[in-house]
Amino acid sequence: MSKKDLRKWWKEAVVYQIYPRSFKDSNGDGIGDLGGIISRLDYISSLGINVVWLNPIFASPNDDNGYDISDYRRIMDDFGNMQDFDELLAGLHVRGIKLVLDLVVNHSSDEHEWFRLGRSGRDHPYREYYHWWPAEKGTPPQRYSIFDINHNAWMYDTNTDAWFLHYFSRKQPDLNWENPALRKEIYDMMRFWLDKDIDGFRMDVIPFISKDTSFPILHFSTEQEYIHYYANGPNLHAYLQEINREVLSKYNIMTVAEGAGVRKEEALDYVDPERHELNMLYHFDGIDLKNLPGDEIVHDPKYDLVAFKTIYSNWDSIFSEKGWGTIYLGNHDQPRMVSRWGNDTPEFRELSSKMLSTFLLTMRATPYYYAGDELGMANIRFKNIDDYNDIATINRYRKIESEGGDLKGFLEEMKLFSRDNGRTPFQWNATAHAGFSTRTPWLKVNPDFIQVNAGVQESDPNSVLNYFRQLVKLRKQHKILVYGKYTLLDKDNPRIYAYLREWQGDKLLIMLNFTKTEASVNPGINLSKASVLICNCSSPSSCKVLRPCGAMVLQLS
Ligand code: GLC
Ligand code: CA
Repeated sequence: MSKKDLRKWWKEAVVYQIYPRSFKDSNGDGIGDLGGIISRLDYISSLGINVVWLNPIFASPNDDNGYDISDYRRIMDDFGNMQDFDELLAGLHVRGIKLVLDLVVNHSSDEHEWFRLGRSGRDHPYREYYHWWPAEKGTPPQRYSIFDINHNAWMYDTNTDAWFLHYFSRKQPDLNWENPALRKEIYDMMRFWLDKDIDGFRMDVIPFISKDTSFPILHFSTEQEYIHYYANGPNLHAYLQEINREVLSKYNIMTVAEGAGVRKEEALDYVDPERHELNMLYHFDGIDLKNLPGDEIVHDPKYDLVAFKTIYSNWDSIFSEKGWGTIYLGNHDQPRMVSRWGNDTPEFRELSSKMLSTFLLTMRATPYYYAGDELGMANIRFKNIDDYNDIATINRYRKIESEGGDLKGFLEEMKLFSRDNGRTPFQWNATAHAGFSTRTPWLKVNPDFIQVNAGVQESDPNSVLNYFRQLVKLRKQHKILVYGKYTLLDKDNPRIYAYLREWQGDKLLIMLNFTKTEASVNPGINLSKASVLICNCSSPSSCKVLRPCGAMVLQLS
């Protein structure tokens, strides 16, 4: 295959992720909606991005904010209706932007018709759409639930004297993919959206869909072990190939798996083009990296940068011959990028946001960029459990409470890690509610919106927002940033991440200072002919010493 054949629009894309509930409210109910996104299409287009990924917009009782779907072919009332959807899709397409929807088919809502009817009697045909364990077989073998307050993935249902399986909340029963009738329904539903001309799917916890329905007894002690087991069901790849054959292969679209539980040795099984499964997968190794023990004064950055570099370099090398990677540092399940991976103090927030954005936009992988990060939005750090909305945070709090555990410590941890940090309303301007809504929003606005908002950044050529736009443009202009070979340099440097990109005789050097003090770098390359393509400080002092949170892209030849 020639290089040219390996070029694909989705490899060259920058994906912008929108959490609809938090982006823009158009009807004054405090909840973001499709009308809100439509009203901001020109802003989205001004970023230069080419793909929008929307978190679930389908009918849902919102136990997990749309990841519990009660009707796959209807728009959630909070978000609008099908006419709004059609208008949004057309508005994006007219601007040359593609749309990717969230496909949530490991589980549905317990309010989905399939589950309501299946639960009504053991003989109902929809019964087999879910995993049931009749009580006469005794207590089912233990399974771990990620969201349940007791972490028990089996929920007893009195009506039919049986247990049903739910890897996530009790209101998210797992669908039974071993049933061909269920699979056919899912494929029909996928075609329904693809025939509307959407451009692909982000597939929610797709590695979990296949289960060993004999439910063997497991002896795991950590969540990680369960998740890895869940991601390796016996028929997983047969189903992915069937999805591809029946649906995906018929359209010019992109697919990306949420690779929960997928180890790097397993990644190519999903995305090797010869296997005809999916296009991309996003891994958790990077964002799962723990902070070092001790405080931020001792460790700058808070985590082991050498380990961070190793993870991203290893994931790059997996796809060096075939397949394709993704890169992200934030999404709706994560705290804010600058708070988690950078430095969100007033002094460094902007520089640090720009530095991290430079990383995302210069790696050999499709960037998935989370809305709000282009402004440098930061963690809200709620003090009180009542401020939280996220089921994961609330249920963990309740569990600790019931066990008499350390609630104060937990709340401190959530200031750094709760998913709600990434879900506060988008900060449009300095007016009431950050211009997100005319009314009190469903989740509090970060009080820093007075300084941090799109309005002020729009008019400042040096803002985080305008720097992000420049980066996107650069990636579009320089295909070396997409396809160029990646080589890690100065690999043991604990403060600087430096790498080379090479393609068709061109060379770019990227250097990023992950700390808040000046740091020197030794790329081991002659920089005498280097010229700066982009840099997050007005005048780079030198190429060998990077300013605090400094980021530089140099052209070498
Ligand atoms: C994925 C989603 C997350 C959701 C979970 C259950 O991890 O990204 O938001 O809670 O799946 O659907
Ligand atoms: Ca609304």
